[in-house]
Amino acid sequence: MKHFSPKIIAWYELNKRNLPWRNTKDAYLIWLSEIILQQTRVDQGMAYYLKFAENFPTVKDLAKAENDKVMKLWQGLGYYSRARNLHTAAKTVHTVYKGKFPDSYDDILSLKGVGDYTAAAIASFAFNKPHAVVDGNVFRVLSRVFGIETPIDSSLGKKEFYKLANELIDKKNPGTHNQALMELGSLQCKPVNPDCSVCPINMHCYAFAKKKVANLPVKEKKTKVRNRYFNYIVFRQKGSIAIQKRTAKDIWVNLHDFPLIETTKELSEEQLFKSPEWKKLLGKTKFSIKSVSKPYKHILSHQKIYARFIEIDSKESLKAVLSKDVLIIKKKDIRKYAVPRLVEIYLDKL
Ligand code: ADE
Repeated sequence: MKHFSPKIIAWYELNKRNLPWRNTKDAYLIWLSEIILQQTRVDQGMAYYLKFAENFPTVKDLAKAENDKVMKLWQGLGYYSRARNLHTAAKTVHTVYKGKFPDSYDDILSLKGVGDYTAAAIASFAFNKPHAVVDGNVFRVLSRVFGIETPIDSSLGKKEFYKLANELIDKKNPGTHNQALMELGSLQCKPVNPDCSVCPINMHCYAFAKKKVANLPVKEKKTKVRNRYFNYIVFRQKGSIAIQKRTAKDIWVNLHDFPLIETTKELSEEQLFKSPEWKKLLGKTKFSIKSVSKPYKHILSHQKIYARFIEIDSKESLKAVLSKDVLIIKKKDIRKYAVPRLVEIYLDKL
């Protein structure tokens, strides 16, 4: 469809949001914005982007940063492996590519945490290379305009959409074409109740003509959600508090939380206090239970976490009663540590 690209680009020039990562050709900054925007919406992502760009204006600054500082700046965005991959990739660019961001699609793709989508975004936005960007917005626009019912989360669907997106791309203007298509999906071709009467390509749209806008795109799978029950034990003694850095292969690696008893079922307080895990953690401690928080529900993409925080005042020094991998810190210093959003919400209520 030869009118497709000029139409969406004309619409984009009139309607685009003025976003800081669109006013640069610096591949490092573009990469940074894309990694952040995979995790959050533009309005929230903006503050994170500006914070990262200010603290680490070049890839070298990010490569040389302490991992704890990177994690702290990422705090609240969730999906913390992205922050670790970001840091690893910055080190690769600094050492392997001598600080110059690679400009070939394959080299960009080889960086840790960079998939097809991000590689195409960087290659086209920063280097104007003709690689189609296919994100959720693009899947939606293409499935509706072209009436494609192949599920977007199937491998067949991915192939079909990538092929079409690469055929549509404007070879002279791939960066702007990609931005325009994503922006059209984001602002105009919204998931629910879009106002198709003002869409610049409604005359070419299959879903609009056939009244199928609400039925496209098609998804194959429903995501499975696992329930987890977190009983956090907040040990305190005088001005000290016990925290721990999460290291296991699980959510929130390298962030800090509290000693934890996790169960797969909901336990009453009585059941918890009688459990072997409770006895193992508190068996040697002389303590009193100060409070048990209200339940907190925290939703992640594939998990629902039900948490409560049990505040314990220990009569003895925490060093003496807790295992070595627990950090004993001053309570007033806890804000210096990167913590999951769930723990931050709890701390805000204290
Ligand atoms: N979402 C992901 N990448 C984006 C970009 N470059 N501009 C706006 N929203 C986006």
